Formats: sequence, structure tokens, C-alpha cells
Amino acid sequence: MDLHCLGRLPFRAIFLALLWPLVSHAGQAAGTAQAHIQVLASSCAACHGTNGNSLGSMPVLAGLDAGYFIKQMMAFQSGERASTVMHHHAKGLTQEEIGLLAEHFSRQSRRPALKPPSR
Ligand code: HEC
Repeated sequence: MDLHCLGRLPFRAIFLALLWPLVSHAGQAAGTAQAHIQVLASSCAACHGTNGNSLGSMPVLAGLDAGYFIKQMMAFQSGERASTVMHHHAKGLTQEEIGLLAEHFSRQSRRPALKPPSR
């Protein structure tokens, strides 16, 4: 297909065409939302570790109280809580996504911190 013709298509038509498979399977909405949150949560793993269990100096998200989580994310969005990187991540998320992520991470079990080998 000649990609140049895409430029002439109204943006909304492209958007709808891409979204249609999601919309038309309303029965699978819950599964789709779950998959969406898994993808979002995995983008946090680079810094916050697998399932929110960070091994380095990043805050651990696993087992965090959902109410606290939501409050922090909103504070990052508004700038009320100063941050180095989190304002960028928070601003890209909707309220609903933040709520689902809060629920997701609150359900992850927190692993005890790894101790360095004794000498
Ligand atoms: C590039 C690294 C990075 C990524 C990616 C990242 N974070 Fe963070 N996160 C941080 C850092 C660093 C902090 C400490 C605040 C700051 O300096 O921004 C933090 C803090 C937080 C806090 C506050 C924790 C507390 O105990 O107060 C939450 C909640 C959080 N991040 C959620 C997320 C979520 C959800 C994602 C994925 C959508 C995510 N982060 C992606 C680096 C990251």
C-alpha cells in the first residue's frame, strides 16, 4: 500500500479503524483492560523492578496501599510532589489507568530486600 495516502485520511478515521477491534468485542473488555494494565505495568518494571519489586534505589511499588499510590501519582501529575522522572510517567496516564495500576501493584507481594552475601 502506498503510505502517502494515509496522510490524506482524516485522523479520526484511522483512530476508529485501529480502535474498532477493541470496541467491537465489548464482552472481552475486562480481559482487554487487564492486558492493557499488564503492558502499562511492565513499562514501570524498568525502574521499579519485576512486579514492582525494585532491587536498586527505586521505590518498591509491590504491596503499596492503593490509596497512597493514587495520591502520589496525582501529586506527580499536578507537580505538588517534586520528582525527577515520575511527573513524565504520571502525566501520560488517565485516572482510570492510575486506579487500575494502583490495584495491580497493591496485589503484588513484596519480596524481602536482598541482602548482600555475608563475608
Ligand atoms: C525511569 C524510571 C522510572 C519509571 C519508568 C517509572 N518510575 Fe515511578 N519512580 C521513579 C523514581 C526515580 C521515583 C521517585 C520520585 C522521582 O524522583 O521521580 C518514582 C516514584 C514512584 C512512586 C511513588 C512511590 C512512593 O513510595 O512514594 C510511584 C507510585 C511510582 N513511581 C509509580 C510508577 C508507575 C505506575 C510507573 C509506570 C507507569 C512508573 N512509576 C515508572 C522512577 C521511575
